[in-house]
Amino acid sequence: MNHIILQRREPAPPDPALRAFAADVQAGLSAARKSLPAKYFYDRRGSELFEQICMLPEYYPTRTEIGLLRRHGREMAGLIGPEAEIVEFGAGALVKIRLLLDALDRPRGFLPIDISGAHLSDAAAALMRDHPGLRVRVMAGDFTAPDLVLPARLPGSRGRAGFFPGSTIGNFTPEEALGFLRSAARMLGEGNTGNGGLLIGVDLVKEPGLLHAAYNDAAGVTAAFNLNLLRRINRELGGDFVLERFAHYAFYQPQRRRIEMHLVSLAAQSVRIGGRRYDFAAGESIHTENSYKYTLGGFHRLAEQAGFRPAAVWTDPDDLFSLHWLALD
Ligand code: AVI
Repeated sequence: MNHIILQRREPAPPDPALRAFAADVQAGLSAARKSLPAKYFYDRRGSELFEQICMLPEYYPTRTEIGLLRRHGREMAGLIGPEAEIVEFGAGALVKIRLLLDALDRPRGFLPIDISGAHLSDAAAALMRDHPGLRVRVMAGDFTAPDLVLPARLPGSRGRAGFFPGSTIGNFTPEEALGFLRSAARMLGEGNTGNGGLLIGVDLVKEPGLLHAAYNDAAGVTAAFNLNLLRRINRELGGDFVLERFAHYAFYQPQRRRIEMHLVSLAAQSVRIGGRRYDFAAGESIHTENSYKYTLGGFHRLAEQAGFRPAAVWTDPDDLFSLHWLALD
């Protein structure tokens, strides 16, 4: 008897964001060296886990950067100037922008740019309550898009300064980091008559043991954050990853000055996602994130290449983390 085997085709995911996610996952898992883009870590659960990471004893960047903002906020504010509009790239932790706004002299505007602009509106209302005279304009968009155009500078504001804390720039390759800095210089320079520039947090090269610990915390939160990417693929794209069959693996690569995060397959196995099959050898990894670390000189060179003038830098006594004022003049 002849058999006709009908293969069930999964319907194409409807919304563009989901389609892009599906396409990126398919491309990443079909490559000879499997990888997944780190930007997909941040679903609701992933964002909660990242907030927990920021409070871990091993994860020094957040508390160190907050310490720098507390200690040197006035100096930063002096360089940014009075009546400024602050453009934040990504919707960062509100605690950081609050520290900056508190230090500034009569800040006029706050313009956070984030893919998911909607969830910012409550936070924006609270900021405006605490800072009468501050106008918050939330811009939904991808701040890494090279052709991004900012709205006209707020009438009555004197200068426009960018704010990019958290060393998120470390999650870009050096080429992407240069591209981002170039477009930030273009956007922040347009029509700016005040003290334009970018205040940016950058994690520093340091003793590998400290870096290793920051991405391999004892409580296993970073591991859960990494593995959550597979759970997201299961839920949103109909995957059947068994999370217990993958292990979080993060290490410092000193030649490239970066932490690499991977998910390592603990056995030979196949995974199905939306009707496609992906085979994993035992020990094969999915590269999920890079987190580049910079020297002060190395970062200054990058900023100069992008058209900024590195004008001030603040570091903690242990040289764990840096905040840079990159001027545009
Ligand atoms: C958001 N980004 C700067 C974090 C970092 O340190 O690269 C993401 C992260 N990944 C693991 N732990 C934290």
